[in-house]
Amino acid sequence: MSKHTINLTVNGKRRTLDVQSNELLIDVLRDRLYLTGTKYGCGIAECGACTVLHGDRSVMSCLVPAVAADGWEITTSEGLAKDGELTPVQESFVNLGAIQCGFCTPGMVVTSTALLRENPDPDEAYVKDYLRGNFCRCTGYVAIVQAVLDAAGKMKGAAAT
Ligand code: FES
Ligand code: FES
Repeated sequence: MSKHTINLTVNGKRRTLDVQSNELLIDVLRDRLYLTGTKYGCGIAECGACTVLHGDRSVMSCLVPAVAADGWEITTSEGLAKDGELTPVQESFVNLGAIQCGFCTPGMVVTSTALLRENPDPDEAYVKDYLRGNFCRCTGYVAIVQAVLDAAGKMKGAAAT
């Protein structure tokens, strides 16, 4: 096994880490940077619980070798709120009851954030399709989809003022 030095920016902080060639990004985030909001669900790109942002794009961190993330700018669920203020997506998830056990929630919120950066005016079908890689065993998805649409409405309203 070989060791490599990688540089990441995680939630705005520069990190330099020595990683093994078989180490995964999810393990670096959870076990070495203690960012445990990123969840380990399936490990095979089926559930979306491990989703983080790479720039504005959502990626499943269980699939990414840490060496491949060298130079990436990563945002985890912990990095979304600023100065204790929830993002519109987080606020809508809370207000509309889109959270039950909470295991899927960080991944759902991160993917929804990427969705709204890509398309600030989605319809219900677009949201359902975009979130198809994120599984929730509790909510039945209705409140989650409503929360994303609610957040989109709030963000549009804020942009118009
Ligand atoms: S843990 Fe990565 S997709 Fe399930
Ligand atoms: S809230 Fe429990 S898995 Fe989604």
